[in-house]
Amino acid sequence: MSTEENIISVLSEKRTFSPHESFIKQANLNKSEYDRLILKANTDLEGFWDELAENNIFWFKKWEKVLDWNEPFSKWFVGAKTNISYNCLDRHLRNKANKTALIWIGENGEKKELTYKELFSEVCKFSNSLLKLGIKELDRVIIYMPLIPEAVVAMLACARIGAIHSVVFGGFSKEALADRINDAKARLVITADGGYRRGQVVPLKSNVDEALKKCPTIENVIVVQRVGVCHDKPLHFNVSINRGRDIFYHDLVSKESEVSEPHLLDSEHPLFTLYTSGTTGKPKGILHTTGGYILWATVTTKWIFDIKDTDVYWCTADIGWITGHTYVVYGPLSCGATVLLYEGAPNYPDWAIFWKIINENKVSVFYTAPTAIRSFMKAGDEWVKKYNLSSLRLLGSVGEPINPEAWMWYHENIGAKKCPIVDTWWQTETGGILISPLPGITVTKPGSATFPLPGIFASVVDQDGNSVGPNEGGSLVIKKPWPSMLRTIYGDDERYKKNYWSQIKGAYFAGDGARCDEDGYFWILGRVDDVIKVSGHRLSTMEIESALVSHHDVAEAAVVGYPHDIKGEAICAFVVLKSNVTARSVGDEAVPIGIASPSARNDIKLIEKLKQHVVKEIGPIAKPDQIKFTDSLPKTRSGKIMRRLLRDIASGKQTTGDTTTLEDVSVLEKLRIEEE
Ligand code: WTA
Repeated sequence: MSTEENIISVLSEKRTFSPHESFIKQANLNKSEYDRLILKANTDLEGFWDELAENNIFWFKKWEKVLDWNEPFSKWFVGAKTNISYNCLDRHLRNKANKTALIWIGENGEKKELTYKELFSEVCKFSNSLLKLGIKELDRVIIYMPLIPEAVVAMLACARIGAIHSVVFGGFSKEALADRINDAKARLVITADGGYRRGQVVPLKSNVDEALKKCPTIENVIVVQRVGVCHDKPLHFNVSINRGRDIFYHDLVSKESEVSEPHLLDSEHPLFTLYTSGTTGKPKGILHTTGGYILWATVTTKWIFDIKDTDVYWCTADIGWITGHTYVVYGPLSCGATVLLYEGAPNYPDWAIFWKIINENKVSVFYTAPTAIRSFMKAGDEWVKKYNLSSLRLLGSVGEPINPEAWMWYHENIGAKKCPIVDTWWQTETGGILISPLPGITVTKPGSATFPLPGIFASVVDQDGNSVGPNEGGSLVIKKPWPSMLRTIYGDDERYKKNYWSQIKGAYFAGDGARCDEDGYFWILGRVDDVIKVSGHRLSTMEIESALVSHHDVAEAAVVGYPHDIKGEAICAFVVLKSNVTARSVGDEAVPIGIASPSARNDIKLIEKLKQHVVKEIGPIAKPDQIKFTDSLPKTRSGKIMRRLLRDIASGKQTTGDTTTLEDVSVLEKLRIEEE
């Protein structure tokens, strides 16, 4: 943290915001119930989870045991049977059949609404279609789609029949898609002809066609016609159809019955895998299961978002991320909420689109990311002022630390100083929010995620696992298992154990640094491993390095994140070119370059090529902001790249700390000279 940031954060620690009386009165979770829950969790933790599971989820069969804990492997609600799609749909049919479940808004302004009854029918039809295609319990299904209602239907249909879904973000490249399909050994891909992004068409189906050249396990591809007009009218967007393998979604479901029995699934039945970046070049498939996951998704949605029957709830995440799984689909639908889905970007056609949507749809609960908030700040308040946002009553933030200035702007300009802000800390691995204010209870401090929720035992510790004192930085750990925790990394129990449960004895280590202030508030300081957060997207520096070195001109690469005003972090790649690479061989007509010569640095063409190569290998979200050529990288004597030094250089800081382990001190000097 810079001195300036430190001052702001210390100032904001002094500044506190209490929930308004009117909010407190109507909150789903009040102080006396909170105190009871905390006491119960501290004295009888299994009883605490037992009670929550009993009161919030429908079970076909009750559990014999709340928790079977064989560190680091957990089984929750052992022996119980349930079904998540039943909890999200069927159980609402008695009282909410005609309540709006989804309000969908397309990038072109189209709007579609589905009631709970209609969503139920769509899910049943699609479940029946999947069964007819031979999809069985535990089969893996890839969902590679834009944010359209059919994507939600596809997730719920998989959950209904016990197939394991794996949503791949539509912005990922065909290469990244192929890797994920192969790791999952999936049988089916559900996709769309294309998706809209800022007026352009993202060619999803042709990406699938390309990816499948390398994916032998896929038997069928189901294609929703999103960009091409309805199937009974001529297509203006052509996709190639591989007969025998590809089927149009509408052709499939039109023949199906509107009812389908939910499968009675074991509480530990796998629900989904979601690939996320870790500290190696290979993304890992985080596995979540049924009973524990839906319990925590439901309870946290009720407590933190204070969901009421009258709310219109909008979480702006894409379903390709964990936030889209837990807080667009499963949590709010299990609570019977009205959920808004918006297909487009925050700045298309202009910076007012979000405020227009809130105004027109009377959105009351709004959950977004700090990077979006900072972009809105930069775009200017005039966009916000165009619309009436008085329907809003609660705001949320997720994905990265929210800086106090952005928090204040959100509070004043979007929340009209009356809406509580919930700054929610969690991860793909945790399945649901673990640290967050409770809107009717917690006194907030801008920039702090405040306290762990009841039942969650979070702590900031040193390397030996001992708690550190107030304001001392340390590692954020969770000391006891919780129901929505990941169960493993798909197909790799050892990696799961090593990544999360062996760095700090007896605790789950989250990869984040944190500190607690003297009042016990948690302040998340960001990742302490090689994961970076770029516009809230989680990326591994190693994954980007692997992509770079797969380019024929690159010998070695080191990637680091550096602070960025809008994105939170930006990507800088230090690249060592192969010794035979000259301007001619990279297709540049400029003066021949020597490696690391000033002209090499100016080789815009090669820089652009390498950036595009990363886009091709991973997707646009991983495109480096800066590429710097060098003839060697700073390494320790044991060969480890000293990223700390590179981070200092990328962010233009003076190198601080110890450089005595550096194998060749002159490397640092050379890198600095290149900088000037
Ligand atoms: C970061 C996103 C500070 C953190 C749900 C974590 C946050 C990583 C917050 C997980 C927050 C998420 N304050 N940092 N409120 N929320 N993070 O898996 O570094 O995409 O480890 O899950 O995001 O990212 P993931």
